[in-house]
Amino acid sequence: MRLEKYLVQCGVASRKKIKVAIAQGRVTVNGNIEVNDATDVEWEKDIITFDGVIPEKKQLKYYVMYKIAGYITAMEDKNKKTVAELLPESIDKNSVFPVGRLDRDTEGLLLFTSDGDLSHAMAHPNRNMEKTYYVELDREISSEDIEALENGITLDTNYTALPSKVEYLSPKSIHLTITEGKYHQVKKMLKAVKNKVIYLKRIKFGNLTLEGMIPGEVKEIQREDIIM
Ligand code: URA
Repeated sequence: MRLEKYLVQCGVASRKKIKVAIAQGRVTVNGNIEVNDATDVEWEKDIITFDGVIPEKKQLKYYVMYKIAGYITAMEDKNKKTVAELLPESIDKNSVFPVGRLDRDTEGLLLFTSDGDLSHAMAHPNRNMEKTYYVELDREISSEDIEALENGITLDTNYTALPSKVEYLSPKSIHLTITEGKYHQVKKMLKAVKNKVIYLKRIKFGNLTLEGMIPGEVKEIQREDIIM
């Protein structure tokens, strides 16, 4: 495992601060200062110190957040409110990070973890992880539009989205299930059928749902709750 990742999982500081600390020579591996954050280290074998202290390996953590609008998906930002502000004090903000992202105005399910391997696996395109969104639209949606979305629509970036699943709810609302997570994907897909998203909420991520949760709530789950 990379030295930087090891220290992130120990929860000693944020990824950014760890990179700086390594570059400043504040980290040792088996007694030697190590300034390369990509150096390969092993949990059982190597002795790592951070500012002279051996950090303990932390238990990996998993949380589901019911994100509310107005917060960007980032752990820190100079000007904008971040989802980190929605995490309760009891959660170690240095060791967890969001898996994927939701736009500032998007609500719904956001998974946080300190498990870098899981996060990587969930985000991998071959995994085809399903994400379902509740979408409210500016204009009524036609059956032709639904068919186009289901077949895989070409976005204004010239990228053709993979086929999606659409559940018609009302003339101006649908459930849309996609397996990709391109930037502004849902908004761009609806724009491609000359419509506009006016409200967006992720209601499902893989097998995880918002069932029983209220807006703004964060609940801890276990690794076994996430089906991969
Ligand atoms: N698609 C979007 O356009 N926005 C999101 O926040 C998530 C998916």
